[in-house]
Amino acid sequence: MDLQRISTGIAGLDILLQGGYLRGRTYLVTGDTGTGKTIASLQFLLSGLKRGEKAVYVTVDERPGEILESAASFSWDLQPHIQEKSLVILDASPYFGARSASATEKGIDPQKIVADLGNYARRLSATLLIIDPITPLILPNDATSPSQDQARSLVQLIQTQLNTTNLFTAHLPKMTAQSTAHGIEQYLASGVLVLKSDQIDGKFNRTMTIKKMRGTPVEPGDFPFAILANDGIVLTNCPAGEVSPGDRQAPMFEFFRPSKKQS
Ligand SMILES: Nc1ncnc2c1ncn2[C@@H]1O[C@H](COP(=O)(O)OP(=O)(O)OP(=O)(O)O)[C@@H](O)[C@H]1O
Ligand SMILES: [Mg+2]
Repeated sequence: MDLQRISTGIAGLDILLQGGYLRGRTYLVTGDTGTGKTIASLQFLLSGLKRGEKAVYVTVDERPGEILESAASFSWDLQPHIQEKSLVILDASPYFGARSASATEKGIDPQKIVADLGNYARRLSATLLIIDPITPLILPNDATSPSQDQARSLVQLIQTQLNTTNLFTAHLPKMTAQSTAHGIEQYLASGVLVLKSDQIDGKFNRTMTIKKMRGTPVEPGDFPFAILANDGIVLTNCPAGEVSPGDRQAPMFEFFRPSKKQS
């Protein structure tokens, strides 16, 4: 089988994964707040942009400007990619606005989400799709807990209708009794990474667990990592990789109308 792998953007992880994620598949990064899900997303994004790929990045909890600022804090500049139309950042919060018909009564319609995403992806010829986080998009009618049916429907539509490699994040509270992310991981994701930050003797230790990685022989275990000023997430116990983590070369920006100047 000739499956192409693409960099995760995370130094060390590509080595563990024998080159990275499989093209065209869907991956899920889960973890509690502050564990590095957005940074992992940005690294995947930037490594793709650096290779000349095009990407749609959907942000839900953070404003696009905040994503740009997060990237900029690592000296990663997204703006040129937005300007040259290799990157579109979509703000999904309108889906959840009280005034949005699509987000009321019947919950959020996966068909509409994917139709909208498809429009942007096709316009751009995007090969990468990042949704950070996907959890609010799989809320059912009662809007209190994500639904497996909704998750399945959304992810299956994305996989059949978009020609992209997909990275989704999902918030997974540390104390949660359920160790799953709403069915995405069992059924739909080709790989699941769990990011953790545990306090031991007053010191925080970050670890990444490769919970699942189809088609890739990975030793189970926790891999310690650090978040470094210019490199982002770097696995600390792995052989030094030739994989460049993210991009150190770029600034930032997006699809929200350039009505406000970002300085
Ligand atoms: N420029 C930076 N240099 C080093 N570490 C940073 C930098 N920016 C953020 N961090 C670390 O990364 C953590 C946040 O990572 P990130 O935003 O990816 O978390 P997250 O899992 O997406 O959280 P949430 O679920 O709240 O969205 C911060 O708590 C901080 O410890
Ligand atoms: Mg985040």
